[in-house]
Amino acid sequence: MIHEFGNIYRIEGGGGISITKKVLLFCDPGIDDSLAIMYSMIDPEIELVGIVTSYGNVTKDQATANAAYLVQLAGRNDIPIIPGASKPVQQEDVTFYPEIHGEEGIGPIRPPSNMQYQIYPFDTIRLIMERYRNELIIVDTGRSTTLATVFILFPDQIKLVHSFYVMGGAFFVPGNVTALAEANFFGDPTSSNFVLKFAHNLTIAPLNATQFAILTPDIVDAISKNTKNIYAFMMAPVFEYYYEFYKKQVPGIPGAPIHDLLAIMLVKNPAIVDYIHYDANVIEGLEARGMSYIDYRPTSKTGETRIAIQLHYEEFIEEFNKVMLPE
Ligand code: BDR
Ligand code: CA
Repeated sequence: MIHEFGNIYRIEGGGGISITKKVLLFCDPGIDDSLAIMYSMIDPEIELVGIVTSYGNVTKDQATANAAYLVQLAGRNDIPIIPGASKPVQQEDVTFYPEIHGEEGIGPIRPPSNMQYQIYPFDTIRLIMERYRNELIIVDTGRSTTLATVFILFPDQIKLVHSFYVMGGAFFVPGNVTALAEANFFGDPTSSNFVLKFAHNLTIAPLNATQFAILTPDIVDAISKNTKNIYAFMMAPVFEYYYEFYKKQVPGIPGAPIHDLLAIMLVKNPAIVDYIHYDANVIEGLEARGMSYIDYRPTSKTGETRIAIQLHYEEFIEEFNKVMLPE
């Protein structure tokens, strides 16, 4: 059953003068993270000013190699790749998800074994926050450990960030890693809670909206045939791998949800979802680990965080095609 929310807001906008958005992406590629990177690399209105890679779908080292590969394919070796956390704060063991994302994170695609790439020290994040003061947008599509660490290490510079977008959570809808929890908030709930509490100007893209951000085989087929899309050669095999998992997970699903892509799309297309405004929390322990919730009682206070609760699918696909099918 899908919960019906009252007090739903839509941000009007889109169109008009476009200003390039400066995005520092925290991620764990991962197929949907990879699609978020591809979309950002191709979209002229998004400027990726750095990619911070962590454990999650795959190991930190693999996530780092995958991010480096995707930027190299676009000839953008100038984008700093900054390795972050290798594990959550709660435990030593980390569970990876090869059945969803492939042994190495991009389905059957592997970065060349002889690939050379440079990695940047963690302090680069501080420099980026200073350099792009008041305009930097942080998007986190992975476990929250690394972003929480940035708050702790660089408390003055984090105040200079313009806004935060986090993919995570499931508000009164089923989780995807447990009955209650979504994978990013389950991975390190302490850090997720910390980020939700301290991030200002925060938008959350939870499963409520992202589970409907589905790519279907016909869309992928069109991209595969597009000679101007630098990632066209890998779209079909990557999608097929990912879709096979979702077909088993959600029988009858017409395509595969690209959760992380929606989070980055909201940066410049806020109106493709509707929002509720509440402060969000994550449960840190035991059976409910990673479960996200808001105080939704009729007399409770609303909050500042925008939580994407409903997707406008046609507009999502229109935007995706606009970027991924260059003419
Ligand atoms: C989130 O979990 C990860 O596995 C995906 O990359 C996405 O960030 C979806 O729950
Ligand atoms: Ca991810």
